[in-house]
Amino acid sequence: MTVNTDTATRERSRVALVTCAELPDLDPDDRLLIEPLRALGVEVTPVAWDAAGVDWASFGLVVLRSPWDYTSRRDEFVAWAARVPGLANPADIVRWNTDKRYLGELAAAGVPVVPTVWATDDTWTPPAGEAYVIKPAVGAGSLDTGRYRLGDPDEAKLAREHAARLVAAGRTVMIQPYLSAVDTYGETALLYLPDESGKLAFSHAIRKGAMLDGPDTGTTGLYKEETIKPRVPIDAELAVGAQALAAIPGGPDQLLYARVDVIPGEDGSPLLVELELTEPSLFLATAEGAAGRLAAAIATRTPARS
Ligand SMILES: Nc1ncnc2c1ncn2[C@@H]1O[C@H](COP(=O)(O)OP(=O)(O)O)[C@@H](O)[C@H]1O
Ligand SMILES: [Mg+2]
Repeated sequence: MTVNTDTATRERSRVALVTCAELPDLDPDDRLLIEPLRALGVEVTPVAWDAAGVDWASFGLVVLRSPWDYTSRRDEFVAWAARVPGLANPADIVRWNTDKRYLGELAAAGVPVVPTVWATDDTWTPPAGEAYVIKPAVGAGSLDTGRYRLGDPDEAKLAREHAARLVAAGRTVMIQPYLSAVDTYGETALLYLPDESGKLAFSHAIRKGAMLDGPDTGTTGLYKEETIKPRVPIDAELAVGAQALAAIPGGPDQLLYARVDVIPGEDGSPLLVELELTEPSLFLATAEGAAGRLAAAIATRTPARS
């Protein structure tokens, strides 16, 4: 990678911030990158990943941000990623990370992951506990995700129907115990960005309120509304974050950003729910200086146009 430090070179550098057709002007949080990038002499263009006729090679760096409509076209998205030069995060990571079966690999590597049953047909049984979650292995934005009370026959029927819908659409189904601590303590998202030396380091964290109030209702759109607040993570959460990052194929040094989402399990210790390396919301607005630091890292990694 060409590392680009002098301003004169940067003035000729171009960055694409990758979004989807529904968000042509990006998500408001990612718009916070535009001014600091321009101040560093970088020309910034939001581009939908599936826009026609884009010369991706004309950008020094192509940064994935809000291509959130890929979940129904994941194969197309992964193939697109493999064709784009200078993609951040890299295409191999995108392929690995857009199917939550990576959680099985991380569990096998010793990372504490929420216990998960994987189903491709209707032979699954719900886990013990008060309630359980059904969601697709390829999904985002809390869509196609539902919470079902164990022992409620009506909800058992809805759960079977939900899983059957996913299976019929060729999707792998994930069945997990509902981690009820999310209703009180919430979910913690740990955000990692490059530090001054360019190495990925913990940057900030947020609390996300519970997202599931019952069976899947087939909500459409790109994502469900979230309640976000800044949070200071506890050491046990940071430890799970470090373990998850260390277990990424190829290691964390190839990444421009990472997000680790954890919820306390039954004994209170954090369990990994998701490792977001593809298109995580980074919640830049919640942390002083975060947008500026990410912009600086992007500028540093952007080779000039040839
Ligand atoms: N096992 C679980 N226990 C409690 N809540 C869950 C569980 N799995 C998912 N959720 C809730 O659903 C949301 C979306 O699920 P997640 O696995 O993060 O998928 P995505 O964010 O990719 O749609 C989470 O933010 C969380 O609020
Ligand atoms: Mg999530």
